[in-house]
Amino acid sequence: MGLKERRERRHVARTFATARRVGDDAVVIGSPIVDAADLEIGQRFVIWSAHRQTLVSGPGRIRIGDGVFINSGVVVYCEVAITIGDDVALANEVYVMDTSSHGIEGRNPEPAPVSIGDGTWVGARAIVLPGVAIGRRVVVAAGSVVTKDVPDEVLVAGNPARLVRPLSYPAYCRRAWHDVYCFCPGSLRNPESEPPPA
Ligand SMILES: CC(C)(COP(=O)(O)OP(=O)(O)OC[C@H]1O[C@@H](n2cnc3c(N)ncnc32)[C@H](O)[C@@H]1OP(=O)(O)O)[C@@H](O)C(=O)NCCC(=O)NCCS
Repeated sequence: MGLKERRERRHVARTFATARRVGDDAVVIGSPIVDAADLEIGQRFVIWSAHRQTLVSGPGRIRIGDGVFINSGVVVYCEVAITIGDDVALANEVYVMDTSSHGIEGRNPEPAPVSIGDGTWVGARAIVLPGVAIGRRVVVAAGSVVTKDVPDEVLVAGNPARLVRPLSYPAYCRRAWHDVYCFCPGSLRNPESEPPPA
Protein backbone atom coordinates (compact mmCIF):
# COMPACT_ATOMS: atom_id res chain seq x y z
CA MET A 1 0.00 0.00 0.00
CA GLY A 2 1.38 3.42 -1.01
CA LEU A 3 1.78 6.49 1.20
CA LYS A 4 -1.24 8.23 -0.36
CA GLU A 5 -3.49 5.27 0.30
CA ARG A 6 -2.22 4.91 3.87
CA ARG A 7 -2.95 8.62 4.47
CA GLU A 8 -6.44 8.26 3.02
CA ARG A 9 -7.15 5.25 5.22
CA ARG A 10 -5.96 7.12 8.30
CA HIS A 11 -8.18 10.06 7.36
CA VAL A 12 -11.20 7.78 6.99
CA ALA A 13 -10.43 6.08 10.32
CA ARG A 14 -10.06 9.44 12.09
CA THR A 15 -13.26 10.82 10.55
CA PHE A 16 -15.31 7.88 11.80
CA ALA A 17 -13.42 7.32 15.04
CA THR A 18 -16.55 7.64 17.21
CA ALA A 19 -18.86 5.63 14.93
CA ARG A 20 -19.98 2.17 16.12
CA ARG A 21 -19.59 0.70 12.66
CA VAL A 22 -18.46 1.81 9.19
CA GLY A 23 -18.57 -0.54 6.21
CA ASP A 24 -15.79 -1.09 3.70
CA ASP A 25 -14.65 1.36 1.04
CA ALA A 26 -15.74 4.60 2.73
CA VAL A 27 -14.54 7.75 0.97
CA VAL A 28 -14.02 11.05 2.79
CA ILE A 29 -13.31 14.27 0.90
CA GLY A 30 -12.40 17.21 3.13
CA SER A 31 -12.96 17.33 6.87
CA PRO A 32 -16.55 16.66 7.89
CA ILE A 33 -17.51 16.59 11.56
CA VAL A 34 -18.88 13.13 12.29
CA ASP A 35 -19.36 12.90 16.05
CA ALA A 36 -22.84 11.39 16.47
CA ALA A 37 -23.09 9.32 19.63
CA ASP A 38 -24.78 6.24 18.14
CA LEU A 39 -23.86 5.94 14.49
CA GLU A 40 -23.71 2.93 12.18
CA ILE A 41 -22.81 3.30 8.51
CA GLY A 42 -22.99 0.71 5.74
CA GLN A 43 -20.71 -0.13 2.84
CA ARG A 44 -19.30 2.34 0.28
CA PHE A 45 -20.24 5.46 2.20
CA VAL A 46 -19.15 8.68 0.52
CA ILE A 47 -19.05 11.96 2.44
CA TRP A 48 -17.80 15.27 1.10
CA SER A 49 -17.05 18.42 3.01
CA ALA A 50 -15.77 21.08 0.63
CA HIS A 51 -17.22 24.60 0.27
CA ARG A 52 -19.16 24.11 3.53
CA GLN A 53 -18.41 21.78 6.38
CA THR A 54 -20.60 18.71 6.68
CA LEU A 55 -21.96 17.67 10.08
CA VAL A 56 -23.36 14.33 11.29
CA SER A 57 -24.02 14.81 14.96
CA GLY A 58 -26.22 14.48 18.03
CA PRO A 59 -26.96 12.05 20.87
CA GLY A 60 -29.57 10.00 18.98
CA ARG A 61 -29.46 6.80 16.92
CA ILE A 62 -28.34 7.31 13.33
CA ARG A 63 -28.38 4.40 10.91
CA ILE A 64 -27.03 4.89 7.40
CA GLY A 65 -27.38 2.13 4.81
CA ASP A 66 -25.08 0.94 2.01
CA GLY A 67 -24.04 3.11 -0.93
CA VAL A 68 -25.07 6.42 0.65
CA PHE A 69 -23.68 9.76 -0.57
CA ILE A 70 -23.65 12.86 1.64
CA ASN A 71 -22.53 16.04 -0.09
CA SER A 72 -20.88 19.21 1.21
CA GLY A 73 -22.59 21.32 3.83
CA VAL A 74 -25.16 18.69 4.78
CA VAL A 75 -26.32 18.73 8.40
CA VAL A 76 -27.75 15.57 9.94
CA TYR A 77 -28.63 16.30 13.55
CA CYS A 78 -30.24 13.56 15.63
CA GLU A 79 -31.70 13.51 19.13
CA VAL A 80 -33.76 10.33 18.88
CA ALA A 81 -33.56 8.46 15.57
CA ILE A 82 -32.65 9.15 11.97
CA THR A 83 -32.62 6.29 9.48
CA ILE A 84 -31.14 6.75 6.03
CA GLY A 85 -31.71 3.78 3.72
CA ASP A 86 -29.44 2.19 1.12
CA ASP A 87 -28.40 4.22 -1.94
CA VAL A 88 -29.67 7.55 -0.60
CA ALA A 89 -28.10 10.84 -1.76
CA LEU A 90 -28.24 14.03 0.28
CA ALA A 91 -27.20 16.93 -1.99
CA ASN A 92 -25.32 20.07 -1.00
CA GLU A 93 -26.51 21.76 2.17
CA VAL A 94 -29.44 19.46 2.84
CA TYR A 95 -30.61 19.68 6.45
CA VAL A 96 -32.10 16.60 8.13
CA MET A 97 -33.19 16.98 11.76
CA ASP A 98 -35.36 15.03 14.17
CA THR A 99 -35.71 17.90 16.63
CA SER A 100 -36.61 21.56 16.24
CA SER A 101 -34.13 22.23 19.07
CA HIS A 102 -36.42 24.95 20.45
CA GLY A 103 -40.12 24.77 21.24
CA ILE A 104 -42.59 27.57 20.60
CA GLU A 105 -45.35 29.13 22.72
CA GLY A 106 -43.66 27.99 25.92
CA ARG A 107 -43.65 24.31 24.95
CA ASN A 108 -40.57 22.15 24.92
CA PRO A 109 -39.41 20.76 21.57
CA GLU A 110 -40.63 17.23 20.86
CA PRO A 111 -38.10 15.25 18.86
CA ALA A 112 -39.59 12.71 16.43
CA PRO A 113 -37.81 10.08 14.31
CA VAL A 114 -37.03 10.74 10.67
CA SER A 115 -36.52 8.18 7.93
CA ILE A 116 -35.43 8.39 4.30
CA GLY A 117 -36.14 5.32 2.18
CA ASP A 118 -33.81 3.35 -0.09
CA GLY A 119 -32.71 5.06 -3.28
CA THR A 120 -34.11 8.48 -2.45
CA TRP A 121 -32.45 11.68 -3.69
CA VAL A 122 -32.83 14.80 -1.55
CA GLY A 123 -31.95 17.86 -3.69
CA ALA A 124 -29.73 20.75 -2.74
CA ARG A 125 -30.73 22.88 0.24
CA ALA A 126 -33.84 20.85 0.97
CA ILE A 127 -34.91 20.57 4.60
CA VAL A 128 -36.42 17.45 6.16
CA LEU A 129 -38.28 18.30 9.36
CA PRO A 130 -38.75 16.19 12.52
CA GLY A 131 -41.20 13.30 12.34
CA VAL A 132 -41.07 12.93 8.55
CA ALA A 133 -40.85 9.55 6.82
CA ILE A 134 -39.82 9.74 3.17
CA GLY A 135 -40.42 6.65 1.05
CA ARG A 136 -38.24 4.74 -1.41
CA ARG A 137 -36.83 6.23 -4.63
CA VAL A 138 -38.36 9.61 -3.94
CA VAL A 139 -36.96 12.78 -5.52
CA VAL A 140 -37.13 15.78 -3.19
CA ALA A 141 -36.59 18.80 -5.46
CA ALA A 142 -33.95 21.36 -4.58
CA GLY A 143 -34.95 23.81 -1.87
CA SER A 144 -38.02 21.86 -0.71
CA VAL A 145 -39.14 21.86 2.89
CA VAL A 146 -40.53 18.42 3.70
CA THR A 147 -43.08 18.78 6.49
CA LYS A 148 -45.11 15.56 6.01
CA ASP A 149 -44.57 11.91 5.09
CA VAL A 150 -43.87 11.19 1.43
CA PRO A 151 -44.93 7.90 -0.27
CA ASP A 152 -42.62 5.75 -2.41
CA GLU A 153 -41.53 6.75 -5.93
CA VAL A 154 -42.80 10.30 -6.26
CA LEU A 155 -41.34 13.73 -6.98
CA VAL A 156 -42.11 16.33 -4.33
CA ALA A 157 -41.20 20.01 -4.53
CA GLY A 158 -41.71 23.34 -2.85
CA ASN A 159 -42.23 24.79 0.60
CA PRO A 160 -44.10 22.98 1.98
CA ALA A 161 -43.18 20.07 -0.28
CA ARG A 162 -46.14 18.90 -2.38
CA LEU A 163 -46.59 15.94 -4.68
CA VAL A 164 -45.61 16.85 -8.25
CA ARG A 165 -45.94 13.45 -9.96
CA PRO A 166 -45.33 9.73 -9.51
CA LEU A 167 -41.99 8.41 -10.76
CA SER A 168 -41.41 5.22 -12.72
CA TYR A 169 -38.11 3.42 -13.08
CA PRO A 170 -36.63 0.88 -15.47
CA ALA A 171 -36.21 -2.55 -13.92
CA TYR A 172 -32.43 -2.25 -13.58
CA CYS A 173 -32.53 1.04 -11.65
CA ARG A 174 -32.22 1.14 -7.86
CA ARG A 175 -31.79 4.81 -7.13
CA ALA A 176 -33.74 7.97 -7.88
CA TRP A 177 -30.42 9.69 -8.66
CA HIS A 178 -28.91 8.15 -11.73
CA ASP A 179 -25.41 8.86 -12.98
CA VAL A 180 -22.44 7.12 -14.50
CA TYR A 181 -21.26 6.09 -11.04
CA CYS A 182 -24.38 4.03 -10.31
CA PHE A 183 -23.80 0.64 -8.75
CA CYS A 184 -27.28 -0.49 -9.71
CA PRO A 185 -27.61 -3.62 -11.81
CA GLY A 186 -27.15 -2.48 -15.40
CA SER A 187 -24.68 0.25 -14.55
CA LEU A 188 -21.45 0.14 -16.51
CA ARG A 189 -19.62 0.70 -13.25
CA ASN A 190 -20.92 -2.58 -11.89
CA PRO A 191 -18.57 -5.21 -13.35
CA GLU A 192 -21.14 -7.97 -12.93
CA SER A 193 -23.86 -6.25 -14.87
CA GLU A 194 -24.87 -5.94 -18.46
CA PRO A 195 -25.20 -2.46 -19.98
CA PRO A 196 -28.67 -1.02 -19.45
CA PRO A 197 -31.08 -1.60 -22.30
CA ALA A 198 -31.17 1.31 -24.78
C1 LIG B 1 -36.82 17.93 -9.50
C2 LIG B 1 -35.81 18.13 -10.61
C3 LIG B 1 -34.87 16.91 -10.67
C4 LIG B 1 -36.51 18.29 -11.95
O1 LIG B 1 -37.26 17.14 -12.26
P1 LIG B 1 -38.21 17.14 -13.54
O2 LIG B 1 -38.95 15.85 -13.60
O3 LIG B 1 -37.40 17.52 -14.73
O4 LIG B 1 -39.23 18.26 -13.14
P2 LIG B 1 -39.75 19.47 -14.00
O5 LIG B 1 -38.65 20.45 -14.24
O6 LIG B 1 -40.50 18.93 -15.18
O7 LIG B 1 -40.76 20.14 -12.99
C5 LIG B 1 -41.98 19.53 -12.63
C6 LIG B 1 -42.73 20.54 -11.77
O8 LIG B 1 -42.04 20.65 -10.52
C7 LIG B 1 -41.64 22.01 -10.29
N1 LIG B 1 -40.32 22.00 -9.69
C8 LIG B 1 -39.21 21.38 -10.14
N2 LIG B 1 -38.19 21.59 -9.32
C9 LIG B 1 -38.65 22.38 -8.33
C10 LIG B 1 -38.07 22.93 -7.17
N3 LIG B 1 -36.79 22.73 -6.87
N4 LIG B 1 -38.84 23.66 -6.35
C11 LIG B 1 -40.16 23.89 -6.65
N5 LIG B 1 -40.77 23.37 -7.74
C12 LIG B 1 -40.02 22.64 -8.56
C13 LIG B 1 -41.63 22.64 -11.68
O9 LIG B 1 -41.82 24.03 -11.62
C14 LIG B 1 -42.78 21.94 -12.35
O10 LIG B 1 -43.97 22.51 -11.90
P3 LIG B 1 -45.23 22.69 -12.93
O11 LIG B 1 -45.62 21.28 -13.32
O12 LIG B 1 -46.25 23.38 -12.10
O13 LIG B 1 -44.71 23.47 -14.09
C15 LIG B 1 -35.02 19.41 -10.40
O14 LIG B 1 -35.90 20.54 -10.46
C16 LIG B 1 -34.28 19.47 -9.07
O15 LIG B 1 -34.77 19.97 -8.05
N6 LIG B 1 -33.06 18.93 -9.09
C17 LIG B 1 -32.21 18.86 -7.92
C18 LIG B 1 -30.82 19.29 -8.32
C19 LIG B 1 -29.90 19.15 -7.17
O16 LIG B 1 -30.24 19.43 -6.05
N7 LIG B 1 -28.71 18.69 -7.45
C20 LIG B 1 -27.80 18.44 -6.40
C21 LIG B 1 -26.41 18.23 -6.91
S1 LIG B 1 -25.43 17.62 -5.61
